[in-house]
Amino acid sequence: MSFKKFILDLRNRKKAAEKGGGDKAQAKQKAMGKLNARERIIAILDDNSFREYDMFVEHVARDFDMEKKKLQGDGVIIGTGTINGAPVCIYAQDFTVAGGSLGLMHSRKICKIMDHALKIRVPIIGINDSGGARIQEGVNSLAGYGEIFYRNTMASGVIPQLSVILGPCAGGAVYSPALTDFVFVVENISKMFITGPSVIKTVLGEDYTMEEIGGAKIHAQVTGNAHFYAQNELECFEQIKKLVTLLPRNNQKGSPHIAPCEPKPSKDIEEIVPSNPKLPYDIRDVIGAVVDSSDFFEVMEHFAPNIVIGFGRMKGETVGIVANQPKVLAGVLDCDSSDKAARFIRYCDSFGIPLLVFEDMPGYLPGIDQEHMGVIRHGAKVLYAFSEASVPKITVIIRKAYGGGYIAMNSRHMRADFVFAWPTAEIAVMGPEGAANIVFRREIEDSVDPEAMRAEKIAEYREKFANPYVAASKGYVDEVIEPTETRDRLIHALQVSRDKQVYWPEKKHGVPPF
Ligand code: HXC
Repeated sequence: MSFKKFILDLRNRKKAAEKGGGDKAQAKQKAMGKLNARERIIAILDDNSFREYDMFVEHVARDFDMEKKKLQGDGVIIGTGTINGAPVCIYAQDFTVAGGSLGLMHSRKICKIMDHALKIRVPIIGINDSGGARIQEGVNSLAGYGEIFYRNTMASGVIPQLSVILGPCAGGAVYSPALTDFVFVVENISKMFITGPSVIKTVLGEDYTMEEIGGAKIHAQVTGNAHFYAQNELECFEQIKKLVTLLPRNNQKGSPHIAPCEPKPSKDIEEIVPSNPKLPYDIRDVIGAVVDSSDFFEVMEHFAPNIVIGFGRMKGETVGIVANQPKVLAGVLDCDSSDKAARFIRYCDSFGIPLLVFEDMPGYLPGIDQEHMGVIRHGAKVLYAFSEASVPKITVIIRKAYGGGYIAMNSRHMRADFVFAWPTAEIAVMGPEGAANIVFRREIEDSVDPEAMRAEKIAEYREKFANPYVAASKGYVDEVIEPTETRDRLIHALQVSRDKQVYWPEKKHGVPPF
């Protein structure tokens, strides 16, 4: 072969590999409103930054006539690139090649790029579009998943791991995402389940669609498996880019610094909280009035909306925000909101992202359902996560801070570095109504006008305890501040806490109430 012929031969091989499962399969993928695997990678990464590896890897299956099948790249594309200039490792399963199913070599490619990401300490992004373990490869494909799960666990807390669900992901294809930090889903395209409709029909005789078992909305709203929900793939890719730009590259690096901009809130911070303590408001208005550019990137927006979590920046530095949402269930902590908050707190702590807490909640949700679902076990996760977090952690009590909620939401006793309270704060064992009914029950019952007596006792209790000054008089609240001072106080608190150090008793690791 002349030199030129070598080059042409290489180009032809690459062209064939790029066709994945062939034109027909690619067209079918497109007809479902899905981009193909390489297009997805290119759309996420900076222009011309993608470099591919292992393009010519071949599968090694020999049973079921598999040796006759050419599976291009063994159904997965791996490579490196950049997002807004920051390096990332990435892989994308190609559903057009044997349904993106995972055989031995497919898994080795994913493991190779995961190992690389961990070695060079950069985020790994996995685009999942797969029927799960390749049935024809038997235990080799199970071993392949095991190797991925192990790596997910080793990389946890060291590099950000993002999973994008862009197709029907079944079996092993959903457990790797479940072990990663953030899962992205897209309406009509993402499906996640451990067994698909045909298995459910065979085993249980029940008919369900893929959408019903595990569509995008189910995972964004009901199961809590997904952290970001988008209407289409391009919107999803914008979310990925935004998140990568907010996160530190690894647990040793600070978050990328962006030139700070003052908030541009839609509401005056003094106008947000209604004067009637029973009326709700949107805690996101408070967050928007405090963070740079009023830009708050919410995580798990549709799941357990009684707590709000997400990222923002304060003077250009990324912070994690945990806030009760008074307009949903009065912002109570229940099983789901506790899980949601606790995991996020641990994420921020792993990556050195300071935590800001905005509190307005009447406590843990009472009721037989919650008790039986394990609100004790789930609620304890919040206590554990805040106590354990060693990043700077600062609380602002906006209004209600009652009972267990007061303690759980990063109180002084969980080792908050600073606790501020607005003058509207009510810090007490429980709300004035409940407290008056218990403490003054006899006086109310014995009164000639029980309703008037109840109102009087509620007012008396509110006056005495439902304010920030009792807690401030004991030093549990560091300062009662005006709402307009909030941003300045938080920025100062973050700046002075930068080199914070915490000393723990010697241990291998604790045993959180998982
Ligand atoms: C081998 C597979 C496959 C698999 C799909 N294909 N899944 N090949 N192993 N697991 C192949 C199909 O044979 C087909 O090949 C092509 O991919 C496209 O699949 P279709 O069924 O035509 O596509 P669609 O109708 O869109 O359905 C997609 C699907 C369905 C819902 C994912 O294929 C399905 O239910 N697959 C099995 C899912 C499953 O139960 N996986 C669990 C595996 S066990 P051709 O050649 O016809 O184009 C597992 C255990 C790990 O993962 C446990 C870890 C904890």
